[in-house]
Amino acid sequence: MELYLDTADIHAVKRLARVLPLQGVTTNPSIVAASRTSLWEVLPALRDALGGEGKLFAQVLAATADQMVEEAVMLNQRVSGLVVKVPVTTEGLAAIKILRGMGIPTLGTAVYGAAQGLLSALAGAEYVAPYVNRVDAQGGSGIATVQELQRLLEMHAPQAKVLAASFKTPRQALDCLLAGCGAITLPLDVAEQFISAPAVQAAVEKFECDWRGAFGALTLG
Ligand code: G3P
Repeated sequence: MELYLDTADIHAVKRLARVLPLQGVTTNPSIVAASRTSLWEVLPALRDALGGEGKLFAQVLAATADQMVEEAVMLNQRVSGLVVKVPVTTEGLAAIKILRGMGIPTLGTAVYGAAQGLLSALAGAEYVAPYVNRVDAQGGSGIATVQELQRLLEMHAPQAKVLAASFKTPRQALDCLLAGCGAITLPLDVAEQFISAPAVQAAVEKFECDWRGAFGALTLG
């Protein structure tokens, strides 16, 4: 499976890339806007933070298919290997079809329904990103949407992968992996919760304390 961070925080990516088996970094317009740094500075800096390799994702802003395609071409030319995120609107679907013909990889984003996501995969998107927490926040079931989408892709568009996105809790993310999603992107706070449960640190401290109590120094002897 592929694990991504959903962020434009260069320092956090550098820190977590040392620890986590990261495949790359996803961004969206809100994430880049929050960083107050130009997209053209952020993307190379993220790649550097990943050690010069790894997959990057950035989203088009245009509202029409032709303009989305123009932006996608620019992104793809300026950042090698970049996957272009395209919102799965009617214009977005048209853009994804054109971009598939041009060999530019896409991710269908802003997915709130399984059928919507399937359409983007059939149009040629390599990845489909359902918004788990945002579906929950609307009173729906993000996980049920992901489960349906995962089954639909397995049956009808096996070349595409669910890249589950939008999380507030580690449990939401874990449920997506249990549903069989091939990729997931975590916000920093959720990624950190995976590896910093207080009970783990407490367990390690107890081992140290017991060892010191018996042998004095904290060495294997
Ligand atoms: O990048 C798209 C998705 O991850 C959005 O997440 O936390 O803004 O709902 P969020």
